Amino acid sequence: MITVRDKEFDLRPADPKKDLDWAYGLFKQSLHDFVEELAGAWPETGAYEFFSEGFCHMPIKMLMHDGDPIGFFGIMEEEKRVTVQRMYLAPAWRGAGLGGWIIGETLKVAHRAQKPFETEVLVNNKPAMAFYEHMGFAIVGADDDGLVKLHVIRHRDTESYVLPRNISSQSAPVGDIFDR
Ligand SMILES: CC(C)(COP(=O)(O)OP(=O)(O)OC[C@H]1O[C@@H](n2cnc3c(N)ncnc32)[C@H](O)[C@@H]1OP(=O)(O)O)[C@@H](O)C(=O)NCCC(=O)NCCS
Repeated sequence: MITVRDKEFDLRPADPKKDLDWAYGLFKQSLHDFVEELAGAWPETGAYEFFSEGFCHMPIKMLMHDGDPIGFFGIMEEEKRVTVQRMYLAPAWRGAGLGGWIIGETLKVAHRAQKPFETEVLVNNKPAMAFYEHMGFAIVGADDDGLVKLHVIRHRDTESYVLPRNISSQSAPVGDIFDR
């Protein structure tokens, strides 16, 4: 049980058999217009495969209120970063503090792991980008899966955990040292 702005919510692991259809519906409703603008049309088969692959294999948590699902998200520690993926709240529950709570929880994981907190957002998803900027993120890169363009964004408080990109080019490969 978690309390956010004086309201109580339950968290439980997602069960694809029970939750996938509802979750995919929310994902599609949330991103349909943005993807259509970028890709020309909603790619139903590819979008379902992309979404269900992540939903079934990531540690997705369902946010519940009074026994009903109201959103979901997955916090993950990857090799080089901590990330939140598949973060979607039902329209009636946006603006109630839950997204901020999820970012705060992910930030704690990033600080513990000493890894940058990064995620991606569609380049034209302006409301989500404004939310992320408000929460302390900045654009640090770009990603493109051939259909849609994404900003790669990083939380400023975790900037110091980014390893310098030129570390490997500065240090001589082992073979070089022994060959000299
Ligand atoms: C994006 C999303 C997860 C944000 O969660 P949320 O619960 O609505 O956000 P919160 O209510 O926790 O807001 C946290 C803070 O961000 C601010 N904020 C929220 N939305 C904002 C927006 N569109 N623009 C600017 N600031 C925003 C809030 O005012 C709040 O500020 P405060 O803490 O200073 O009071 C949610 O709106 C959502 O599910 N959107 C649709 C799906 C989506 O686009 N997901 C992201 C895919 S990358």
